[in-house]
Amino acid sequence: MANPTGYPELDALLPRLDAIPSLEVDALASELIAVLGRKNGALTEALKSVASLPMDQRKGYGAAVNGLKASFEAAFAARRESLDTDRQRQEAAGVDLTMPARRRWVGSEHPVTRVVDEIVEIFRGIGFTVAVGPEVETDWYNFTALNFPEDHPAMDMHDTLYVDAPPVAGEQGGRLLLRTHTSPVQIRAMLESAPPVRVIIPGLVYRNDPFDASHAPAFSQIEGLAVDEGISFVDLKATLIHFAHRFFSSSTKVRFRPSFFPFTEPSAEMDVECQLCHGSGCPACKGTGWMEILGCGMVHPAVFEHSGIDAERYTGWAFGMGPHRIAMLRYGVPDIRLLYEGDMRFLEQFVPGGRRGSGARPERSEGAAGQG
Ligand code: DAH
Repeated sequence: MANPTGYPELDALLPRLDAIPSLEVDALASELIAVLGRKNGALTEALKSVASLPMDQRKGYGAAVNGLKASFEAAFAARRESLDTDRQRQEAAGVDLTMPARRRWVGSEHPVTRVVDEIVEIFRGIGFTVAVGPEVETDWYNFTALNFPEDHPAMDMHDTLYVDAPPVAGEQGGRLLLRTHTSPVQIRAMLESAPPVRVIIPGLVYRNDPFDASHAPAFSQIEGLAVDEGISFVDLKATLIHFAHRFFSSSTKVRFRPSFFPFTEPSAEMDVECQLCHGSGCPACKGTGWMEILGCGMVHPAVFEHSGIDAERYTGWAFGMGPHRIAMLRYGVPDIRLLYEGDMRFLEQFVPGGRRGSGARPERSEGAAGQG
């Protein structure tokens, strides 16, 4: 702190003197005017008031004002010089001070991550535990244990990406491949723990598919599995309807259509009311008013047998859905590739509080668990 003058109205200016070394260019200019300005500068006014003082006080007060003025002038000059050298140094280093500042990035979850998290949370809320499994699997877990017939087309080289490595020995081994669905984790969950089992299984799956508007060689799935005594198709329907009402809206209509999967019997596909036209029919749902979001069914006894579970005592249900597809339906994303490209102009729409979905329409709606 600068030395006190003994005059309170002058000493009141001392903190401002001390603050000068940290003022930036604009603040420095206005402070200079506020203190030393010819019109209303604080010290200019003080100096003027000297003339109106009684003779015996003029000298002391005048000297104090002048001393303080000199200190202010010196401080302003020193600060201006240091700002000048800073600027010269930055200019020499190639820093362009006139360049507009960079916008601050606001990060947020990827729309697919958000969809996965929301779905998993809904199932956790009704007693399901999260399970995960390896993305490189054996033939046995990915196909055999799930009751795929030996020559099932899903095992075809055109569909499955095999790993160029020696096959794994043993009963549960076989050729190594990138899992084509999350269903093998059902088997792992049942081999690991005895019923009751209630697991929700998010993860990436891989298929030798083209990368086009509705296909990607890597995409996400969420598998669900419930095994217990006395479980029926009613539990399956009630649980999935609960999910659809929580995830979409409480008035969203759903329907189940008979279908086929080797690992469930009976099997079904679940459709939800089209989220874009709300059932009246639009290009996104091909005029049907419905969008398929998952495959499901009652666990096939052959799958129980491979998983060491007594099919006479226990029953269970399972489902598989595709969060990439569901994100496309929910946000009206017309091309799945947008979800992979990391283009900020696309992703910024999903920043909370920011704009959502563009209103563009997806072209296909089938095959929410896989890729149609
Ligand atoms: N794994 C199937 C697929 O990739 C999806 C699926 C359908 C999973 C029915 C299931 C199920 O668990 O019960 O297309």
